[in-house]
Amino acid sequence: MKTSIIAVANQKGGVGKTATSVNLASGYAFLKRKTLLIDCDYQGNATSNLGLKKSSKFRNLSSALRSDLPLEEVILKTSDDFLDVIAGDMGLSKLSREKILEPGSHNILKNWLDCEKLKEYEVVIIDTHPSLDLLFQMSMTAAHYYLVPVFAEADPFDGLQYMLEEVSLIKKSLNPPLFLLGIVITKYNTKNATHRKFYEYLQKYMEEVKITLLKTVIPESNAISSSSSAQKSLITLHPRLPVTQAYLELARELLPELRGMRQGRRQSTPIINEMPEELDKIFEVEVHEIEEAIL
Ligand SMILES: Nc1ncnc2c1ncn2[C@@H]1O[C@H](COP(=O)(O)OP(=O)(O)O)[C@@H](O)[C@H]1O
Ligand SMILES: [Mg+2]
Repeated sequence: MKTSIIAVANQKGGVGKTATSVNLASGYAFLKRKTLLIDCDYQGNATSNLGLKKSSKFRNLSSALRSDLPLEEVILKTSDDFLDVIAGDMGLSKLSREKILEPGSHNILKNWLDCEKLKEYEVVIIDTHPSLDLLFQMSMTAAHYYLVPVFAEADPFDGLQYMLEEVSLIKKSLNPPLFLLGIVITKYNTKNATHRKFYEYLQKYMEEVKITLLKTVIPESNAISSSSSAQKSLITLHPRLPVTQAYLELARELLPELRGMRQGRRQSTPIINEMPEELDKIFEVEVHEIEEAIL
C-alpha cells in the first residue's frame, strides 16, 4: 500500500498540533484508513491523550531509533483496530542532543520507517516538537507532506516565515518532494469578531502568497481538553460535536491530495513577509479594546 506521511508542524506551541494530530489520526481510523500516529514530541502528549503509556521501557520512539528496533516491536495498539501509535517519550530529548552532531542524523526517522511493516498503513501522522531542532528536522525529512495549524487569536505570522525558511532548507538538501498541504485554523470562534476578521484577512493574504488555507476550520471547543483529560479521542467520546465533525471533514478534505500523484511534483516554499500591516491593525484593535475594557 502507498503510505502518506504527514507531519503536523508549527514551531509555536499551543496552536493545536497535538489536538490536530490525535484527532486527524483517529478521524482517518474512523474512515477505515489504517493509520499510524507517531509522537515525535518528548512531552508525549499525543500518546497520553490517547490513554497510552509513554513510560513503557522500550515501546517508544527514542528506544526504537536508538536501538533500531523493528517497527512491529514498538507499536502500541489502541481500542480502534485502524489506529496504532508509536509513543513519544522523554528519551527523545536526550537522543536529539546526542545525535545532532552525527552526520546524517536527520535521516534517522526516515530510514527507520523504511520497512515492510509501514506499507500496511495508508496514513502516518507525525506530531512534531515545537522547535527547529533535530526532532523537527527528522520529522520533516521523513514526511511527504506537512500541515500547519494556526491559532486564530495569536499572531499567526510569528515564527511562520522562520519555520518555512527552515523547511525550505530541508526541502533543498534533504527532502525535495515535501509538500505543504496547507494552513488549518484551529480554536476558531465564530462569535469572536477578531477571529472573523482574522479569517477573512487570512483568506485574502494566503491567496496572494499562494499558500493553501484549508476550507475546514476547527472550532473552539472545551471538548478538546475534556477528551485529552479523559484520554480518549473526540470521535470516541463526542462523535456528534461540531469539533469532531470538523476533524473528520479535515481528514476528508486532505484525502484527494494524499491520493494524488505526489511524485515528480515540486512546490516552492512560500514566502511570508513580516506580519502585514492590515493584520497588525486587527490585533491592535483587539489589544485596544481589551485595554479599554480593563480601564
Ligand atoms: N479547537 C480547540 N478548542 C479549544 N481548545 C483547544 C483546541 N485545540 C487545542 N486546544 C487546547 O489548546 C492547548 C494547546 O493545544 P495543543 O494541541 O496541545 O497544541 P500544540 O501541540 O501546538 O502545543 C491545549 O490545552 C488544548 O486542549
Ligand atoms: Mg503538542
